[in-house]
Amino acid sequence: MSLKKENFITLGIETSCDETSVSVVKDGRKILSNTIFSQIKQHAKFGGVVPEIASRQHLEAISHVTQQALEEASIDFDDVDLIAVTNGPGLIGALLVGVSYAKGLAYALNKPLIGVNHIEGHIFANFLESDFAPPFLCLVVSGGHSHLVYVKDFGKYEVMGQTVDDAAGEAFDKVARALGLGYPGGPLIDKAARHGNDSAISFPVAHLKGGELNFSFSGIKTAVLNYLNRQRQKGEPIVVEDVAASFQKAVVDALVENTLKAAKMKNVKTIALAGGVAANSRLRQELANRAGRDFHVKFPPLILCTDNAAMIACAGYYRYLMGNKSDMTLTPYANLKLF
Ligand code: KG4
Ligand code: ZN
Repeated sequence: MSLKKENFITLGIETSCDETSVSVVKDGRKILSNTIFSQIKQHAKFGGVVPEIASRQHLEAISHVTQQALEEASIDFDDVDLIAVTNGPGLIGALLVGVSYAKGLAYALNKPLIGVNHIEGHIFANFLESDFAPPFLCLVVSGGHSHLVYVKDFGKYEVMGQTVDDAAGEAFDKVARALGLGYPGGPLIDKAARHGNDSAISFPVAHLKGGELNFSFSGIKTAVLNYLNRQRQKGEPIVVEDVAASFQKAVVDALVENTLKAAKMKNVKTIALAGGVAANSRLRQELANRAGRDFHVKFPPLILCTDNAAMIACAGYYRYLMGNKSDMTLTPYANLKLF
């Protein structure tokens, strides 16, 4: 499909979880600004995201973050051609802030509005600042999702596998909390694991009967918690780095195995990663190694793996060019599906 609109400015808005982000993207792919206000500090003392606090923080930050994004891009509201906003999946109160703000802007400025699926946004992070295009197989792994998606074309997806319980990032966050590493756990486990022995402890990841490309991460989380309890009861030491490395190895092996299996099934040449867990150094390395010469592997830059509004602007631009448009009835959905 050949899709293009020249000198077209999209304002992206993302408030689905704990990052208030607004971005200005030109022609769907060129980032003019990508302002991200992280609420991590506000949530860290509670060991995870507190939905009520997230909503309030978004409300306080959204107009400042928007002003900053416009200033950094050296544009003003009149230059905007399209407003794209995440309308799910995510925390309902948090989504509501972004959607209400976007609707207010679209109405006041008389600009078109488009609602974007957050998971689709993560996939589209791969198109930013590049000429990358479908078809490809995408592993979307974040704090709330673990999906294996065959991207046939822009907006044409087949979900080949997904988690049946915890998302990969959720498992990283819960294990990090049990290890006393803090929040968010993914980057902290990634760091600790660099100094650990990944075969010190065997933490198997469940293989599912039936949907063979599905994932299950709640078993490994329980296995880690049981191991920690046993060590404490026996009065034996816990080497945090070894636990982190062994846990990370098991999760990454399961992700890479299913991803390669799905890529072979679809006979694609390219595999892309997306979502916060795509920032994991071992996942990036292991996928690249095991893909070898059979597949080209594409990773978004780290800042575009975790939540940001540039990916929402990119997905919104392509959706709009495909003829989609939202109106003032746009509503956030906590469990919005990819199709
Ligand atoms: O995409 P994202 O920013 O938000 C969601 O849509 O959920 O992903 C956040 C998740 C968190 O669970 C965080 O721990 C995880 O991504 N994460 C990582 C790494 N960086 C972020 N997990 C493993 N290794 C990392 N380096
Ligand atoms: Zn996300």
